[in-house]
Amino acid sequence: MHGTIFSLLKRYVQTQYDHSTWVQLTELAGISSLDFNSKTVYPDEHMYALIGYAAQQTGIPAGELHEKFGEYLVPDLLYMYQKLMRPEWKTLEMLEHTEAVMHTHVRREHTENAPPVLDVKRVSENEVIIDYVSPRRMGGLAVGIVRGLATYFDEADRIDVQPTTSEDGERVQIRVRRN
Ligand code: HEM
Repeated sequence: MHGTIFSLLKRYVQTQYDHSTWVQLTELAGISSLDFNSKTVYPDEHMYALIGYAAQQTGIPAGELHEKFGEYLVPDLLYMYQKLMRPEWKTLEMLEHTEAVMHTHVRREHTENAPPVLDVKRVSENEVIIDYVSPRRMGGLAVGIVRGLATYFDEADRIDVQPTTSEDGERVQIRVRRN
């Protein structure tokens, strides 16, 4: 997984908890380097181990932590890839363009990058259906990212995010409605 996602997980743990929690998690996960480079791709197993131990330490279920972390990621991710965004996009438009614009760009940056395939259908003016497919089974992160986008675009009170399948499968469907 992209080094940026690891750097943001580190910052998330440091700000929500503290630095020593982060050091403890890396020790438990058997990770020697405490810093991550945005140009390097790190093993997915490290991400599972870090979130798994974080869930153990905090008592918060791993699925919920994935969601919270997904929400937290959004402003930094958008800042990094802001040149790809259009000023008129809000939450639903951003979702509609993530696969073709954002994730396609991420795949080109590094051959080892493998963001999930998102099949996003705009079923009506106020609704999109996202079909997430990834062997990483990080649907919780996807749900969190959608919530984070709604907050980012100042639409959190209007956007309803509803997974219609279990969040930990290889295929997860998420319904997003604007009221
Ligand atoms: C809006 C701008 C977005 C950007 C710039 C972005 C960028 C990225 C990047 C850089 C990765 C790491 C890929 C890798 O290490 O191989 C990633 C992974 C991921 N993205 Fe996105 N993403 C965006 C939107 C979304 C949205 C809207 C969703 C969900 C609906 C989503 C779901 C995920 C998930 C769940 C992963 C974790 C890897 C996996 O499950 O296979 N992303 N994304």
